[in-house]
Amino acid sequence: MIMATTTPSLSPDELRLFQQLVYTRIGVRLGDNKHALVQNRLRSRLRDRQLSSFSSYHQLLTEPAESEEMELCINALTTNETYFYRHPLHWHWLSQHWASFGPAPRVWSAACSSGEEPYTVAIELACRGITGGEIIGSDINSSVLDQAKRASYSPYAVQKVEPVTLKERFRSRVRFERHNLMSATGPARNCDLVLLRNVLIYFDRESKRKVLDNILQALKPGGLLIIGGAEALTDNRFDYEAPSIYRKR
Ligand SMILES: C[S@@+](CC[C@H](N)C(=O)[O-])C[C@H]1O[C@@H](n2cnc3c(N)ncnc32)[C@H](O)[C@@H]1O
Repeated sequence: MIMATTTPSLSPDELRLFQQLVYTRIGVRLGDNKHALVQNRLRSRLRDRQLSSFSSYHQLLTEPAESEEMELCINALTTNETYFYRHPLHWHWLSQHWASFGPAPRVWSAACSSGEEPYTVAIELACRGITGGEIIGSDINSSVLDQAKRASYSPYAVQKVEPVTLKERFRSRVRFERHNLMSATGPARNCDLVLLRNVLIYFDRESKRKVLDNILQALKPGGLLIIGGAEALTDNRFDYEAPSIYRKR
């Protein structure tokens, strides 16, 4: 006998439940235009948990014993695009400023996704013989962080980087930690440089303010903040340095 299987659809009310959940947990505003994204990405979670509706999946997530499922839900709903040397203008600008951080720079790649950004920092510092300091990569998504820790990239992703060199020489140079930018304490202190690129676009004004409060605590006075090329920062606690590059007052 062939069983009829129906693929559940996400109703507007159910979409609102997940918009609220994601906003409360990670400060990200999923607009109504993300209906298809939420529906498609959560369908496999419903399948795995053998649930027939999005509201029953949401109900399940409210149970304290389901913190692991909550992690999988958040993993499914974040957007993690990244690549080596993204925004070449930033790397070009930094190439003229690495030396100003001294022999032991502290760099935090906040929202680093699968690690290409902090590994690009590691490569750039190594090229200049700067071996001291610390590079930290953090993200809310535990799945991309696992990928980052493995430093295992497709030939396409590492076309400009020697893969063996990356694994052998740089993997141990970056410390990865799961971290929510909404939380008051962060994995890094006294930083010379924080990269917070291509994540501010997902936050509304209130979340953005919270994130920047935390980033300010992590930066040393005069430390640099770099945001994404298409992102905007209007915060008088930072001075403008160059396009999308700011200095803590
Ligand atoms: C588009 S990627 C940016 C990756 C990298 N910074 C770049 O520019 O190539 C955005 C990342 O932000 C992360 N993210 C979203 N909200 C977050 C939060 N509240 N705390 C930490 N990371 C978050 C996502 O998991 C995702 O990996």
